[in-house]
Amino acid sequence: MKTWCTEAVNKITADIQRSADTHLIKLSLPALTGIDIYLKDESTHPTGSLKHRLARSLFLYALCNGKIDDSTTIVEASSGSTAVSEAYFARMIGIPFIAVMPKSTAKSKIKQIEFYGGQCHFVDCPSQMHDASVELAKAVDGYFMDQFTYAERATDWRGNNNIAESIFQQMSLEPHSIPSTIVMSAGTGGTSATLGRYIRYKGYHTQLLVVDPENSAFYPHFKKQNEATRVISASRIEGIGRPQVEASFQPDVIDDMLQVPDSASIAAILWLEKIIGRKTGASTGTNIWGALQTARQMKQSGTTGSIVTLICDSGERYLDTYYNPAWVKQHIGDTQPYLKQLQQFN
Ligand SMILES: Cc1ncc(COP(=O)(O)O)c(C=O)c1O
Repeated sequence: MKTWCTEAVNKITADIQRSADTHLIKLSLPALTGIDIYLKDESTHPTGSLKHRLARSLFLYALCNGKIDDSTTIVEASSGSTAVSEAYFARMIGIPFIAVMPKSTAKSKIKQIEFYGGQCHFVDCPSQMHDASVELAKAVDGYFMDQFTYAERATDWRGNNNIAESIFQQMSLEPHSIPSTIVMSAGTGGTSATLGRYIRYKGYHTQLLVVDPENSAFYPHFKKQNEATRVISASRIEGIGRPQVEASFQPDVIDDMLQVPDSASIAAILWLEKIIGRKTGASTGTNIWGALQTARQMKQSGTTGSIVTLICDSGERYLDTYYNPAWVKQHIGDTQPYLKQLQQFN
């Protein structure tokens, strides 16, 4: 079995070797003189999102912990992006994969999971994903990957070209090479944990701002509004916001949090499309809103510097939802007041 495991690890590390890094895009915003905003474009990974990094790390972590053999079925609870990436790696090493997802998950993600040979198992809402995954893994004698517990520890936070190391390296020749603020949203909280730990490890003065959508337990927990927070309604921003605080979420490495209205996240992706000519997912809108609020504060206080945030995935996945005005009006609300506010940054 060790031979199979070694071969599986080699297949994944060879895939890393063949991969290029993702771009860091600089926004051109004349209204923000002396304040530079950069976007780390994670939509360009082979499986289309920042979850490509996480899936790779979770597979290597499980393989090296002896949790997977050549006949193990992998089960995962996911809002879709992680499942797409895990289906890709499961196929690479030749084992079955089942995603447990809310039935509202974007159709294009479901198609992609099936394209990579994965199966989909649907639950009514995100709060049911965990228990359904545990049960399913038991029933098929499989392994529950459990990103919401293991995301923060499966990633090499000190380096190994993790997302934080890559950002700081790509910033090195910029006018403000050490960002004043990095802005990131949280699903598992794994990416924000890696960023926050790396900033501390290197002793940078960078602030980590985590942005959270409506209907998420992370923000009230961080602000200590309610220690035992549980949110009843599901997040409407796919990939981020959770009904309960997950084990992977690390509040102690976060400097501050900002709650972003869902309509503002959608307004921000419509605004961003006009600036970069590309569609992005709604969680990118949450990130952008946070980055622009930070820029506005810096401008008001007369400070200069740089802000980095992420494009988490592409908007092509959400053409029938976030890019469909009728759907947005019915499910999210009025974006106009936020679009008006965003005009000040053009
Ligand atoms: C589209 C999207 N954006 C952002 C995130 C948040 O990333 P993390 O899980 O590292 O907190 C996720 C996670 O699922 C996601 O799918």
